[in-house]
Amino acid sequence: MTATPPAVPDIMDPGLIADPVGGYGQLREQAPVVRGRTPDGGPAWFVTRQADVRTVLSDPRFVNSARSVPGTSVDSVRDKLIEMAGFPADIAHYFSDSILDHDGEDHSRLRKLVSRAFTVRRVGALRPRVEEITAGLLDRMAGLAEPVDLIAEFAYPLPITVICELVGVAEEDRPAWHRWSSALMRMQPDAVGPAAREMVGHVLEQIARRRAEPADDLLTALVQVQEGDGDRLSADELVTMIITLVIAGHETTAHLIGNATLALLTRPDQLALLRADPGLWTGAIHELMRWCGPVQLARMRYAAEDVELGGVTIRRGEVVQPVLVSANHDPREYADVERLDVTRRPAGRGEGHVGFGHGFHYCLGAALARQEGEVALRALVERFPRLALADAEPEWVPVPGMRRLARLPVRLG
Ligand code: HEM
Repeated sequence: MTATPPAVPDIMDPGLIADPVGGYGQLREQAPVVRGRTPDGGPAWFVTRQADVRTVLSDPRFVNSARSVPGTSVDSVRDKLIEMAGFPADIAHYFSDSILDHDGEDHSRLRKLVSRAFTVRRVGALRPRVEEITAGLLDRMAGLAEPVDLIAEFAYPLPITVICELVGVAEEDRPAWHRWSSALMRMQPDAVGPAAREMVGHVLEQIARRRAEPADDLLTALVQVQEGDGDRLSADELVTMIITLVIAGHETTAHLIGNATLALLTRPDQLALLRADPGLWTGAIHELMRWCGPVQLARMRYAAEDVELGGVTIRRGEVVQPVLVSANHDPREYADVERLDVTRRPAGRGEGHVGFGHGFHYCLGAALARQEGEVALRALVERFPRLALADAEPEWVPVPGMRRLARLPVRLG
């Protein structure tokens, strides 16, 4: 008699949201590629081992858009956004057609165009400014009544300020961006429509303004790419790209800072190592991304042809859901896998973990996010040597595919 394979956990289950590592462990060991349901309720193959996740993210037989599957002409993403999440039909394409929805040469074209404007030099040059914003936020926090909510007072404002300065979102418009972005992340149908419409209107207005009056920001650089010779961004692609960058640069990094602070405050031995040797920080960020990175699930993929993976046949057109959080805790890849070890160094392949994805769609903002994480966490623990948690139980937000703290009350000491 064969044993029944373990069931794929419900991705909105509070137990899984609080403990995604434990939640996927049994699946990874017993049924590494198995049928489950994606956040939108559709059937999908869940892929939980790191080697298989890397295959899905870097093998061209897996694609991001249903349009890239031979014989399929519909792309269901736009329809689902309209139906399920309440995006107005006339602007849904701005949200269903981002760089993450493109494959092959079309994706390379988009990626090349933004990377040109979003260079490593631009990120490196930002470091002093990231340090300055961090120091300002820590000064402000020192004056607040305790306990201080680290998420609201530090983890969010830092990446929001950085991405808004980089893109060129004016200070007075940032609270609105934060509101829109939260409404979209939570996918609450009554809030999504108005937020999406306001956001698109605002971006169109900003583009017109930069055309008339160029500035030294990413918005202007992208407008110039759009107007330039050779490969171009279309007008719609330009709007979508700006929205994607601000949202992507906003939520994720905030939760890396929150999750990593929680991890270090509950593991004082690891924090002590970092305090004693700040040279460990750069490597520690890779380990913190592996251990508690904020993105649990990659974007779902489609099989463009029949593919054998992990002992099953995935048929053309079927949906595949790579589970990054499980891949990052795969004992085949890491010794003593469940231990947070800030001195761990990736063996072999690149940064080791897949918390920023892998392959074609590897995170465009990874260098920026790592830099922000390093600057923020290091300055936080140096500034407040007696920093401690004020609440025993962390509160997780039930957002599909993300590991996101609602708040993190701390005492600064
Ligand atoms: C892609 C995670 C910060 C922009 C991705 C992917 C992951 C990821 C997992 C790949 C998704 C997939 O293949 O399905 C993260 C995490 C971050 C972070 C954990 C912070 C800790 C940022 C920032 C930006 C950004 C700061 C921009 C300023 C993007 C873009 C893509 C992407 C544009 C799509 C790239 C493509 O399709 O070629 N990110 N990200 N991310 N990320 Fe990030």
